[in-house]
Amino acid sequence: MGSGISQGAGLLLAIVWAYCGFRLGGFAHRPTYGKRRRAARASIGWLLFGVVGVGAQAVGTAMMLSAGWEFGGDLVWVALPVLLLPLGFVLRSSWPLLRRAARTEVFDRAEPVAPEDRTAAANPRLVVPVQATAVGALFSFYAVFLHRALPPFAVDTVILLALLAAATMALWLRQQRRQQKAANATRRRLPLVLLKRVAVFAIVVAGLVGGIVYGGQASRLPGSVDMHAGGPDWGGGTEGAAHAHHGGGAGSGSTTSVADLTGPRTGTPDARFTLTARATTVRLSSGELVDGWTYNGQAPGPELRVREGDLVQVTLVNRLPRAGVTLHWHGLDVPNAEDGVAGVTQDAVQPGQRHVYRFVAEQAGTFWYHSHQVSDESVRRGLFGALIVEPRDAAGEPARELTVLAHKWKLRSGRYVDALGVADRLRRERVVAGSRMRLRLINTSNRAAALGLSGTPFRVTAIDGVRLNRPTELSGVQLDLAAGGRYDVEFTMPSRAVRLLDLDKPDAALVLSPDGRGDAAPLSAEAPRFDPLHYGSPARTPFGAGSEFDRRFEMILDDRPGFYDGSFVFGFTINGELAPHAPTFMVREDDLVRVRIVNRSDVVHPMHLHGHHVLVLSRNGTPSTGSPWWSDTLNVRPGESFEIAFRADNPGVWMDHCHNLDHAATGMMMHLAYTGVSTPYEMGRASGNTPE
Ligand code: C2O
Ligand code: CU
Repeated sequence: MGSGISQGAGLLLAIVWAYCGFRLGGFAHRPTYGKRRRAARASIGWLLFGVVGVGAQAVGTAMMLSAGWEFGGDLVWVALPVLLLPLGFVLRSSWPLLRRAARTEVFDRAEPVAPEDRTAAANPRLVVPVQATAVGALFSFYAVFLHRALPPFAVDTVILLALLAAATMALWLRQQRRQQKAANATRRRLPLVLLKRVAVFAIVVAGLVGGIVYGGQASRLPGSVDMHAGGPDWGGGTEGAAHAHHGGGAGSGSTTSVADLTGPRTGTPDARFTLTARATTVRLSSGELVDGWTYNGQAPGPELRVREGDLVQVTLVNRLPRAGVTLHWHGLDVPNAEDGVAGVTQDAVQPGQRHVYRFVAEQAGTFWYHSHQVSDESVRRGLFGALIVEPRDAAGEPARELTVLAHKWKLRSGRYVDALGVADRLRRERVVAGSRMRLRLINTSNRAAALGLSGTPFRVTAIDGVRLNRPTELSGVQLDLAAGGRYDVEFTMPSRAVRLLDLDKPDAALVLSPDGRGDAAPLSAEAPRFDPLHYGSPARTPFGAGSEFDRRFEMILDDRPGFYDGSFVFGFTINGELAPHAPTFMVREDDLVRVRIVNRSDVVHPMHLHGHHVLVLSRNGTPSTGSPWWSDTLNVRPGESFEIAFRADNPGVWMDHCHNLDHAATGMMMHLAYTGVSTPYEMGRASGNTPE
């Protein structure tokens, strides 16, 4: 998006302009006409440099704008005015004055400058516009890099312009005083000047250091984190009657507790599992070792297979030496209390403890489970596995299927390795030619997985556990799978080999063939990306772009360097804030909700809403025209905006976060909460509940 360049350049620009201002401030004190003219010429050079820099900022803004108003509107409204306004004054008043000084004929270069000329050189009209541009450039840097404005932008514009006006006024008064003095002193007393500068420098440094230390301290999260600290966002709808904040303290009215929103407490389960978390050394197929955490000593954890409609009971036992653990059923829309988010829907299961989950598997498809306590580290180490819900009616199911979990393992050596399951080397499977084959692809890593299937045409038959309507045959396209997302692909096994590979690590490949030998040419890393937006055929959906929505939310994803919980991070924000300060989207049961997600940052964010599947309405303004595209983990790339919709039909407090779990761990998360539902659980150091 080019913003990275212009962001970094913004600070440089401020420095250049500050230096220009500094030079012009000393202009009145050039002792001779010769030195004075030289100074004027050099300053012109620096000013030109500064003007070119402003031009570059404008170009950067135009580039952002080309992606759409939502990506550059704030720059136009907020970052540019504070830069262009003072620059106008520079061009109107400083520039001609400086040009005149640079062009004056000098007869005797050593001749001392006459007092009236010194006064003229200290003219505020010459000096102050340049200094004001430096201040404006600093504000602009702030608005581009440190805190991008959210709509409506006018508020930020007014505030920054007012501050700029005040700063300019102060600089003007200061320069007027200096002008009065300029006539008297031929030479400023050097020691005094030096002392003053050292003092100013010391104050600035002390201020900066103090600010950083304070910022770091102030960002430390309290022992008990109020997950709704960012306040409610009602999405333009009416407020609920009930008080929805957590804690259940005084005045909370009649609320439902998350703890009561369980699956069926009685009844004999149709499927029963026990998953025991323990520390395990995981061996990849290359022999590399990982200090893993696993369920049942397996990495990935055991594949849980159940049938649609089954009452599922899973007992989680924690035998890890230190960390807490939970089970989150990623993509399966279970009742809130079964969702497995530490600090929101339960307490983390500490070593030695156990927890029982019970829910009815109501959707057939490809899902996965993982711990949602310190999920970034836990998932990376191996606390995850596939959860497959077979359809109630098995007629027409493929003869054979394989589940492939694309994962990024952190080796003992500290290196990261991409693998399919634990296979970081070629893996072979025999498949009977002519049989129908399904691959269930699950991305359990933190980055989008670029998967390539070659040797056969194929169809993408499901996304995020939801079947697509009449998918057409594809070949030569790569499958860019969101972190946490799933694709099912199906094909008829040819008589020759079929190859599935991770394009980022071509030797981690799965080769299927009837005789266990042979290979297919790998898909090119340049192959175009599969795009669900126009894939398959439309079908009826319970709501769509034309529906009447009860609430509309804006979700602006961006980046911001700063502090998070005591350490400096390059954080990714939702609506300008890091957790827990991002707003909580508030809904009432049965609301029809529309969300616009805009990614203004430079990296992709796979956004995952718990407890609901969302229908994609459009991307970058282009309506979805293929099969209904339901998603639970949506890759939002830089410069993309999505309109999505969902029915609020699963009461609770639900996490909504980036499934690049290290983004989530540094604050890229928020909640969707139903009015009248509160959680008795707490997040933070005191409770030991750290969902990310
Ligand atoms: Cu797969 Cu909130 O997680
Ligand atoms: Cu992210």
